[in-house]
Amino acid sequence: MESIKSYIAQHKGRFVNELIELLKIPSISADSAYEKDVITTSEAIKNALEQAGCDNVEICETPRYPIVYGEKIISKKLPTILVYGHYDVQPPDPLDLWDSPPFEPIIKSTEKHPDGAIYARGACDDKGQLYMHVKALEYMTSEGNLPCNVKFMIEGEEEVGSESLAWFVPRNKKKLANDVILISDTGMIANDIPSITTGLRGLSYVEVEVTGPNRDLHSGLYGGAVANPINVLTKMIASLHDENNHITIPGFYDEVEELSTEERGEMGKAPFSLEAYKKALDIDEVYGEKGYTTNERNSIRPTLDVNGIWGGYTGEGAKTVIASKAFAKISMRLVPNQDWEEITKLFQKHFEGIAPKSVRVKVTPHHGGQGYVTPIDSIGYQAASKAYEQTFGKVPIPQRSGGSIPIVSLFEKELKSKTILMGFGLDSDAIHSPNEHFGIWNYLKGIETIPWFYKYFTEMNS
Ligand code: BES
Ligand code: MN
Ligand code: MN
Repeated sequence: MESIKSYIAQHKGRFVNELIELLKIPSISADSAYEKDVITTSEAIKNALEQAGCDNVEICETPRYPIVYGEKIISKKLPTILVYGHYDVQPPDPLDLWDSPPFEPIIKSTEKHPDGAIYARGACDDKGQLYMHVKALEYMTSEGNLPCNVKFMIEGEEEVGSESLAWFVPRNKKKLANDVILISDTGMIANDIPSITTGLRGLSYVEVEVTGPNRDLHSGLYGGAVANPINVLTKMIASLHDENNHITIPGFYDEVEELSTEERGEMGKAPFSLEAYKKALDIDEVYGEKGYTTNERNSIRPTLDVNGIWGGYTGEGAKTVIASKAFAKISMRLVPNQDWEEITKLFQKHFEGIAPKSVRVKVTPHHGGQGYVTPIDSIGYQAASKAYEQTFGKVPIPQRSGGSIPIVSLFEKELKSKTILMGFGLDSDAIHSPNEHFGIWNYLKGIETIPWFYKYFTEMNS
């Protein structure tokens, strides 16, 4: 694998240009207006896999967006790595907060990325990170350095809940059989502090609707005498946290795994500057559940957040009105052992229960998924750790992330294999936000590190 460095040095211009081409296609899975582009992107992934040396590349039809599959099988006696990624991206709005158009990638240098970063929606989440795997494979096949079997499965609905993948996986267990699943769709602490993600949070996402009077009313004629759905909704939402920022839904914490003092002590050793954290977000103080640190609040603790809220008049000027309806979208991040469907039920029961008689409440569950934790003594983790040590010159720190990739727990259930999360993005890369970017150094470092994982995983399995 030593030749990976010179291979990258020789081809890096092309590696960057190919990614830029992929980033130009607006594969927004949430918005059906972009259906054609999502499909075009799946075709681009198919071509890229073929060009990188994959065999049997196919576009697998599903109830919605296609899954791209490809493989390189060299011997039944060797272990098999299944690489997963997603070619869909989040909607780019609000557009006016982007410094350059989200689907016209440009390269700019920043403090965190002095060697330049590619700015575009999907640069880090997940086109840039999945493409590292394609280029790592290209290196291994073209230099005769592929030490084991590999399968690729790239989906187009991750950002909207992976429904078609959940349909596909149980129907294709044989085809997907593997010894370990490898994903780059998370982050690391800093370019000089490599880390491997060992946990993901689960998710329950709901939409609520509060209905008051049967029509919008004059706020002078009726104000004070009829419940205002917006007032009621905001009050109900505010009551979901107590003064210590604990969530008040009965039973919500019942299954939450409490970490031992030792484990929390280990977590606390990861380098973290609260001052830098506040400065990066332009806030004077952090906020959260009493009794936990910032890093605990965003990884090992469950949360409840309003993601959007609307109703009434929001146009120019003033309109004196009491709206008939108010709405909100609410997400709950869950930790291992909390069952997302159970939590959704608890939310629904509680939210309907706290509604005053003067309004009607409807709770509509959206998608969700289970959390995930992976042990650090598995062969997969150890191989990943050695790979980072090789290319970063440092042993990576295990770290639980606050984000969610719900399909990972389904992989474990259906395919009975562990997932290794080798992410190379930074929290400051602004995934899901305006000006998303991915460091070119990170992109190339990922391409360099992945083949070492293949090598060590194969060696440790024999
Ligand atoms: N890649 C992210 C998840 C992520 C990012 C995990 C950084 C850890 C660190 C993924 O694409 C994502 O955005 N997931 C969604 C959940 C999904 C069901 C929409 C999320 O976490 O909001
Ligand atoms: Mn992602
Ligand atoms: Mn995402």
